[in-house]
Amino acid sequence: MVETLGIALGALLTLTVVALHFAQGTEYPIPDDISQEVLERRAESVPETEFPEPMNRSIGGGGAVAAGAVAEGETEGELADAEEAADDDPSAIPDDEAETFEVEYVKEGTTIEVKENTTLLEAGEEQDWDLPYACREGQCVSCAGHITNGGNSEQYVEHHTNQMLGEPELDEGYTLTCVAYPVDDLSLETRETP
Ligand code: FES
Repeated sequence: MVETLGIALGALLTLTVVALHFAQGTEYPIPDDISQEVLERRAESVPETEFPEPMNRSIGGGGAVAAGAVAEGETEGELADAEEAADDDPSAIPDDEAETFEVEYVKEGTTIEVKENTTLLEAGEEQDWDLPYACREGQCVSCAGHITNGGNSEQYVEHHTNQMLGEPELDEGYTLTCVAYPVDDLSLETRETP
């Protein structure tokens, strides 16, 4: 009796396994590929540009200002300010129109002529001096130096894009040599931070 029951259970188990093996699950419908549609909709929502994107920021995103378009949230006044800042860039002065000044590099023991379209850092580098710098955009103090003529350093240099030195440091004669263009003769101690 027990033996028959065991055989029956075994057969039932075998049949169940076989049935499960051949059973097919409910078919899952594969959704349509909408990725192209999403990309097209997104492309329609941003302005077109006529040139390759720097840094690949977004589809048709950055660069609108350079292309002459007024980007969303930006006013014509801000664009005018940006254009004015570009006009004020001393490096844009042509070489044959640039005035020349005598700059004494105190620690290097030399006085050289530096044009008003050349930074104090660039002029030193042209002499093969290994002067310190990092950002070259007036955003750190790695290149700082001290103008020893006395008074505010902006009597002697024009800082283009100085974002680090405040009025007290300028009053003490400090300068960021990477963005400092001479506007007068001066004496400079390189490697001097406020
Ligand atoms: S190198 Fe950074 S401010 Fe000059």
